[in-house]
Amino acid sequence: MSIERASALLASARSALFITGAGVSAASGIPTYRGIGGLYSDKATDEGLAIEEALSGEMFQRRPEVTWKYVHQIERACRGARLNAAHAAIARIERRLERCWVLTQNVDGFHRGAGSTNVIDIHGDLHRILCTRCPYEAHVDDYAELAPCPRCPACAAVLRPDVVLFGEMLPLEKVEILRRELARGFDVVVSIGTSSLFPYITRPVLEAAHSGVPTIEINPALTAISTAVSVRLPMRAVEALEGILSRIEPGG
Ligand code: OAD
Repeated sequence: MSIERASALLASARSALFITGAGVSAASGIPTYRGIGGLYSDKATDEGLAIEEALSGEMFQRRPEVTWKYVHQIERACRGARLNAAHAAIARIERRLERCWVLTQNVDGFHRGAGSTNVIDIHGDLHRILCTRCPYEAHVDDYAELAPCPRCPACAAVLRPDVVLFGEMLPLEKVEILRRELARGFDVVVSIGTSSLFPYITRPVLEAAHSGVPTIEINPALTAISTAVSVRLPMRAVEALEGILSRIEPGG
């Protein structure tokens, strides 16, 4: 069975890269971006814009209040959510490995919360707020106290969440860490709960597969990498990762 193969691959690996997306946080009650119940399902916003336009760097420059409105909406959808057994299982598998990295597109901070130490949150973290002008930054547990379009307490410039908006560049230092770790290589690459739309998310899987490195995909739906991976688990993240963990650490 595929889950046996996936477990055997992870049990014998000394290093692993986990690439995660919204599906990993689905069991926490956080809506995914796409698919059933996804945040982007209702195409147009109140302003008649596509959600991707409202959440773009360009819109934030011109009309930060519009971008903030939808950032608040995303934060409200996540508020009160807790990390789940999938984040915990990844952190637990990580402890068995000599080297492990998590490349996540999620902005909820749950991998670090679960104890994963090497996390590249390539799209940022919703809980970090930065000033657009001065070095001010703050950690906010939730946005309940934030104004609709909050301003810096130090210099009064508009604040922004430390997340990558549509059309913005990825943070260079994170891209560099990813490049460095990919160059070192991994014994296994595992993609979980992502629709695999972006090249920096698919490439590590496809390049590993191309060089004969074992790859695993956990996703109930098919994606662009599904036919390339060595093992495909068409399951939910919690179910698959708990199944793998119970095989690697029986009674653990
Ligand atoms: P998506 O919403 O695009 O995709 C979620 C994926 O998770 C889909 O492929 C689902 O089939 C799968 N899925 C749903 N429930 C699952 C479960 N319980 N277990 C496992 N998989 C499940 O989310 P991402 O791929 O993360 O960017 O989206 C990537 C980026 O698009 C996000 O980071 C965000 C968005 O634009 C930014 O905010 C910059």
